[in-house]
Amino acid sequence: MSDGYVWFEGIPFPVVDFTPEHMREVQENFVFKDEDVLILSFPKSGTNWLIEILSLIYSKGDPKWIQSVPIWERSPWLETMYGYKTLKDKEGPRFMTSHVPIHLFPKSLFKSKAKVIYIIRNPRDILVSGYFFWITSNFVKKPESLEQYFEWFIQGKVVFGSWFDHVRGWISMQGKENFLILSYEELKRDTRSAVQKLCQFLGKKLEPEELNSVLQNSSFQAMKENKMSNYSMLRGWLLDQKNGSFMRKGISGDWKNYFTVAQAEVFDKIFQEKTADLPRELFPWE
Ligand code: A3P
Repeated sequence: MSDGYVWFEGIPFPVVDFTPEHMREVQENFVFKDEDVLILSFPKSGTNWLIEILSLIYSKGDPKWIQSVPIWERSPWLETMYGYKTLKDKEGPRFMTSHVPIHLFPKSLFKSKAKVIYIIRNPRDILVSGYFFWITSNFVKKPESLEQYFEWFIQGKVVFGSWFDHVRGWISMQGKENFLILSYEELKRDTRSAVQKLCQFLGKKLEPEELNSVLQNSSFQAMKENKMSNYSMLRGWLLDQKNGSFMRKGISGDWKNYFTVAQAEVFDKIFQEKTADLPRELFPWE
């Protein structure tokens, strides 16, 4: 763990539950099934919120599952050793999560009809969310200041690499029937419509009271209070005993409270340069 990451093909990965040999094994041997559901994201995009919503959609709003099984067991991270072991021989439809960039992903995904949801978020908010999370965690390199993390982020020297490359890679699947892009911002703005969109994509129908229960049980407050979803069980191991708080603020636009005017300008310029050829509707926050 020399520099606070494990490196695989030039991309920084977390130091816990992960080795390059293991990632090679996942890449070469994991077989997707048509009935699988895969959540993809750059870390801090709202991944766990989406897992909670999906868990509730599949249990028709009944909170028993989300209140009794930790979130990382409901939709394990494919790239972790724990996740891979759990998923590999699992019968029936599987939920899984991953932060791995497309070019390192198991190729069997692209031959399957597995449903894939990519959650995207304003990278400025991802940067701020990541900074506050990594300083309390023990599994990726800890930044010393927000200024330092800002530099790492724009250079792509953060866990899972460059946000710009991650997004560009995965959105190349846009237009495929089994691929959906959802933004954190649309989930925040109109959660009901976003959940309905998800149900349609997944071929799931909810009664009005079931939909209400999905919304209620996946709210920021409900997740903050649910120890199966708020990561409090990892305090003292992966997260700092006192300060580790995964459910931080849960809002859009918090970056405005932290970026200096100069940082905002630098970020704008880089964002424009790196995304100039991509469809603007991908970035509803801009
Ligand atoms: P903040 O740090 O900005 O609060 P991920 O799951 O990809 O690691 O993303 C974590 C971010 O999603 C955190 O953002 C967290 O607060 C936010 N989040 C988690 N559950 C949420 C919810 N139910 N509603 C809104 N935001 C949520």
